[in-house]
Amino acid sequence: MKTTVFYYTGTGNSLWVARTLAKALGEADVVSIASWLKDKQPITSKVIGVVFPVHMWGVPAPILRFIRESKALSPDYLFAVAVDAGQVANTLVQFKRLCKQNGLKLSAGYEVQLPSNYLPWGGAVAKELQEKIIAAAAQKIAAILPVIQNREEKPVDKGPFWPGIVFNLLYRVSFKQVRTMDGSFWVDERCNSCAICRQVCPAENIKMESGKPAWQHHCEQCLACIQWCPQKAIQYGKKTAGYERYHHPEIKLTDMTNKQVDKS
Ligand SMILES: Cc1cc2nc3c(=O)[nH]c(=O)nc-3n(C[C@H](O)[C@H](O)[C@H](O)COP(=O)(O)O)c2cc1C
Ligand code: SF4
Ligand code: SF4
Repeated sequence: MKTTVFYYTGTGNSLWVARTLAKALGEADVVSIASWLKDKQPITSKVIGVVFPVHMWGVPAPILRFIRESKALSPDYLFAVAVDAGQVANTLVQFKRLCKQNGLKLSAGYEVQLPSNYLPWGGAVAKELQEKIIAAAAQKIAAILPVIQNREEKPVDKGPFWPGIVFNLLYRVSFKQVRTMDGSFWVDERCNSCAICRQVCPAENIKMESGKPAWQHHCEQCLACIQWCPQKAIQYGKKTAGYERYHHPEIKLTDMTNKQVDKS
């Protein structure tokens, strides 16, 4: 049966997971959630996957919107992959609850760990470590595949109980601030006005003013702008100028700027 794997991504990790899954499943399309929310292109698949990054120990706002609006897709089998840097917390429990509230049944939910893209807490890890993490992720994806192929029902992955309580609180507090956290972005003299930051932003939150990016305060904190700027000219607060940027090594800028249906 045909599968559609939806993804949302800032630095390509979730796109890579979506593509890896789709390739192994065969007869599967990979569709950007950011694009689908704009054009609502018809989807006929009855097996649906949702692949998204964990943001602040929970589900990012665009995914909440997607779940509300995707109930019309009425899948026969729905699975999710939360892509993170090691702290899934209660993200998939929250996601499963959201599905239920919207009349959808989540049959399986997995965490896949990939290198962190949270630049304010530090730059990209060394290439060798990235390769090890990606190889471990590929193994986890291989383990998930038979569950999806056999349409099995599985409990969702979740983090430890007590830290989860703190993470729930942190999620609630930070979620309210996400839209205006772009107030901490600024651009340095290396900016050459290429406008790539505007093109990669899934939220259309960047306008070019006199050749420089201006953030519009409806940010989703995906960090695509700061991570993909080829000049490393975008900074967040005071420390990021010296940090190495990260994006998934197999995902190219063109994958980010062309958010239409991706059949590769
Ligand atoms: C705003 C923000 C918050 C994040 N919060 C978490 C988190 O709570 N737990 C975690 O393990 N990783 C966290 N990360 C790291 C990402 O989930 C991780 O790097 C993911 O693979 C990025 O996927 P993407 O490239 O598809 O956007 C966060 C990243 C961002 C940008
Ligand atoms: S991507 Fe970087 S160099 Fe290009 S316009 Fe944006 S800030 Fe300037
Ligand atoms: S402004 Fe930057 S961090 Fe915010 S949604 Fe757009 S690309 Fe993502």
